[in-house]
Amino acid sequence: MNNPILDTIFRRRSIRKYADRPVEPEKLDLLLQAAMAAPSAMNCKPWEFVVVTDPEKLAQFRKRLIFGNRNAPAAIVVCGNPSLSANPAARLFWPQDCSLAGENILIAAAGLGLGTVWIGVHPVAEFVRVVREVTGLPRHVRPLGLIYVGYPAEEKSARTQYDARRVHRETYGQKNSS
Ligand SMILES: Cc1cc2nc3c(=O)[nH]c(=O)nc-3n(C[C@H](O)[C@H](O)[C@H](O)COP(=O)(O)O)c2cc1C
Repeated sequence: MNNPILDTIFRRRSIRKYADRPVEPEKLDLLLQAAMAAPSAMNCKPWEFVVVTDPEKLAQFRKRLIFGNRNAPAAIVVCGNPSLSANPAARLFWPQDCSLAGENILIAAAGLGLGTVWIGVHPVAEFVRVVREVTGLPRHVRPLGLIYVGYPAEEKSARTQYDARRVHRETYGQKNSS
């Protein structure tokens, strides 16, 4: 089946080598528009984003995040700010809300010809501390993850990782829907 949205989802891969070329500010803005189109619990939108293109800050991420040593020209730190949730019942859902916003960034970037990789931050205390220090986050704003963005300097094939063993029909362990 030829479907542009599915094609983009399958083409999104983690890119860990980037060209020495900046990302246009308009494209970074489009990624943020995509992020903030995500669904969120009770539509509370408890997200905030720190866009980082300062080479010194990016160098700090590379040096201090042990799984984050990538040469991207930009990063978007996806943050949760539960105090933005007007409804207290929605506050616990900030990781899901922000994850969905982050996934929108990854897919939108693939659609714009950009590469990305998600660098896990929350809930590892050391990674949280590094990202807080580099970006000056206040205590009540929580860094969930960091997304490197740039033009790819490596190619990866499109794919799904579909695995029928992970799919159950109606009851756990049942494989046929009849
Ligand atoms: C929560 C989370 C944390 C991740 N952390 C890192 C990381 O620190 N460094 C990295 O290079 N990739 C990281 N990744 C990317 C995964 O390794 C990658 O998504 C996975 O290997 C599947 O490959 P694909 O993205 O190309 O489909 C992370 C992904 C997620 C969802």
